[in-house]
Amino acid sequence: MRTKIVAGNWKMNKTLPEAEALILELKQKIKPDGKVAVIIAPSFVNLPKAVELLKDNPIKVAAQNMHFADSGAYTGEISADMLKAIDIDHVILGHSERRAYFNETDEMLKEKANQAYKKQMTNIFCVGENLEDRQKDHHFEVVGKQLKNALFELPIQAYKKIIIAYEPVWAIGTGETATPEQAQEMHHFIRETLAKKYGRDLADKVRILYGGSVKPNNAKEIFSKPDVDGGLIGGAALKADDFQAIVEAAKS
Ligand code: 13P
Repeated sequence: MRTKIVAGNWKMNKTLPEAEALILELKQKIKPDGKVAVIIAPSFVNLPKAVELLKDNPIKVAAQNMHFADSGAYTGEISADMLKAIDIDHVILGHSERRAYFNETDEMLKEKANQAYKKQMTNIFCVGENLEDRQKDHHFEVVGKQLKNALFELPIQAYKKIIIAYEPVWAIGTGETATPEQAQEMHHFIRETLAKKYGRDLADKVRILYGGSVKPNNAKEIFSKPDVDGGLIGGAALKADDFQAIVEAAKS
């Protein structure tokens, strides 16, 4: 039995006072339990406040990105040690917006995934095809390559701290969701790909989240699929009531 996870990726939203207000509301409304773990990923400048406000709360805090080097001349970047020094040990890597707008390649993401493993951080690793890949029926090939290129040199024990997020690019922020069947089909493919490389036992343990226009009205159906272990939520994570409803959907 895999515990579900609902993670909120706040992207480049919320000033410090806005982030504070949302976290206080989430603390009141959201009760993670044995069935569902909850993670939020505010932007870097809001992370220390998020950690402080959630100190004795089961909601975990993640960063949205980090650099692969330990330190050095990388203006504007953030290292794993900087995150760990403020008690952050979860990081989203390889989000499609980072791949598309900031030219993050599989090669770079491999370095980042290696760094997350080296620093014992939980890596919420995003994969997903774009619309053209889907229309050409290349989606399995694309997602398979993203996994292999970045993660498949890691040893099996690294997967204790890897969560995969399948986010079809055509469903992100568009209001268009993958159907529960499309999500299940890809999640199953990801699990089988992991099974072939690392064995069934490992594959059955890895959590695979779905992301892309998850809302309170579609979450339950998507999460009910056998290989869908929760969601990575964008827009709906910015409203406490919507996020709460999605967390509840993961419990049922
Ligand atoms: P939306 O839920 O806004 O489509 O965003 C999904 C996402 O990109 C989460 O990382």
